Amino acid sequence: MENRDAELVNKILSLKREKKAVILAHNYQLGEVQDIADFVGDSLGLSQNAATTNARVIVFCGVHFMAETASILCPDKIVLLPDMNAGCPMADMITAKRLRERKKELPNATVVCYINSSAEVKAESDICCTSANAVKVVAGLNRDEIIFVPDQYLGHYVQTKTGKKMHLWPGFCPTHIRIRPEHITQLKQEYPQAKVVVHPECRTEVIALADEVLSTGGMCRYARQEEVTEVIVGTEIGIIHRLKKENPGKKFIPVSEQAVCPNMKLITQEKVLWSLEAMAPEVRVPEQTRLKAKAAVDRMLRVV
Ligand code: 13P
Ligand code: SF4
Repeated sequence: MENRDAELVNKILSLKREKKAVILAHNYQLGEVQDIADFVGDSLGLSQNAATTNARVIVFCGVHFMAETASILCPDKIVLLPDMNAGCPMADMITAKRLRERKKELPNATVVCYINSSAEVKAESDICCTSANAVKVVAGLNRDEIIFVPDQYLGHYVQTKTGKKMHLWPGFCPTHIRIRPEHITQLKQEYPQAKVVVHPECRTEVIALADEVLSTGGMCRYARQEEVTEVIVGTEIGIIHRLKKENPGKKFIPVSEQAVCPNMKLITQEKVLWSLEAMAPEVRVPEQTRLKAKAAVDRMLRVV
């Protein structure tokens, strides 16, 4: 580590102690951010961590809906998102107003929202899910008609696994749809021994070629297994940093170097330091919305 970097990291760590803060980072964050985090994980792990931490401040290194979920679960804590521009285009593909309209068209349907959605959308939903538990959440519902928002690909995958009648919202992740089936078929020829893992936000044709369909946390657990030595990884490339760090000697091949989420890359060590110094920008959900959204998130957390 260069002296300048070491100085920056030391400043972050001492300020973190002083402010009684915890740094939570998503698996797609830059390596420099993952390396200073107290916990690195997927959306489910991050929510569970936020719900149980006794820190006073949460520095959320991820995108806006993730920081919002932390605020929904911990209204007594200060939740900082070091760059307010770090949004999720998929989450922005649905609004609470449009969901209300859809609910009027399908009054008997249960609404399941992917955690990649705003607090307002969660507040209009019956239960939330993440990529790690979507199949379990939907399979456990005692109603057969479901509105699933906003990711059509995750929704379609869950539909094939549960056999439930699902009305899918036409949302998608602009990063994951860059991953194409031909990328995988080509890499499988180059690395015939490798296992293929993909995220359920990928296109249906991509999912069809995978050995395992997993959340980012699921991919990290899968990679630790002794018999797994070479993996073709179909998700955002930030995860490769963690996979390599935790599994030296194993080979991880990103399916596409184009699979980059620009929003996830907005957070840097410098911004984490500024954020801790200024105690800003803060993400806070208005109480009325928070209580309704919390009901949907709590229902999910009881399932897993
Ligand atoms: P995970 O919950 O699997 O980490 O996914 C979050 C996400 O935004 C994927 O694009
Ligand atoms: Fe949203 Fe896709 Fe980025 Fe995940 S990778 S935060 S779904 S845009």
